[in-house]
Amino acid sequence: MKIAFIGDIVGKPGRDIIYENLLHVRQDFGIDFVMANYENASHGFGLTLKNATELLSCGIDCMSGGNHTWDKKEILPLLDSMPLLRPINFPKTVPGVGYRVFDVGGEKLATINVLGHFAMPMVANPFSITQQKVEQLQQDGIKNIIIDFHAESTAEKRGLFLLLQSKVSAILGTHTHIGTDDLCIENGCAYVSDVGLSGCRDGIIGMDKEAPLQRMLTGLPASLEIPKNCKKIMQIIICEIEEGKCINAKKLRIYDDREMQIQEALVE
Ligand SMILES: [Fe+2]
Repeated sequence: MKIAFIGDIVGKPGRDIIYENLLHVRQDFGIDFVMANYENASHGFGLTLKNATELLSCGIDCMSGGNHTWDKKEILPLLDSMPLLRPINFPKTVPGVGYRVFDVGGEKLATINVLGHFAMPMVANPFSITQQKVEQLQQDGIKNIIIDFHAESTAEKRGLFLLLQSKVSAILGTHTHIGTDDLCIENGCAYVSDVGLSGCRDGIIGMDKEAPLQRMLTGLPASLEIPKNCKKIMQIIICEIEEGKCINAKKLRIYDDREMQIQEALVE
């Protein structure tokens, strides 16, 4: 199966570039299943019912979250009624689930969402909880497993990759919004520290530069805004998986004003 993964969708510019491109990317690259991170999709913070409905109708099959999952309260019932995830290492008592299993052309595919520790809310150990869930999925006969590791620290992301690379198909990082150039495949597992945002590429992590610069210069609080006009980028990883192993992977950078760039994974 061919799966695709879109990192953090940031506000309307992120949603728009996905609406404009995802269906033809799905067709051109023969993609069977698309996962994306929703946590900044609605004006940069959380996810509304309207945006969830639109994103799940434009070619996205499953969406994962992170530290901003809870920012729009209307998401709470959607976490059960839509194919959405919240990080698996929040307590079991909070709404939603941290993993889901899908049928993709007669094969099972598990998706997991997990939150890192550094500079994140207090949650359970991301490494042991993910390891336990992967072992449980394998015992259930599920080989195709993709993980959205939503974390600030590249060291934590690399750590989870080295811990689980022989057991899962892909570990793809989100949260920093900055795409990293370390896309690789080792032991049949695709990895990148961060896929990077889909949204504005000329501000500061998808936001207008004015408020963050004021914060940096003065130390005073300022509200972050999504720019009304900006240069856009869509960043997407495509992985081909056979019997649970990723056999090739590539990263597409799709722009609103220039040619697409394609980066092939380094296969170790
Ligand atoms: Fe985040």
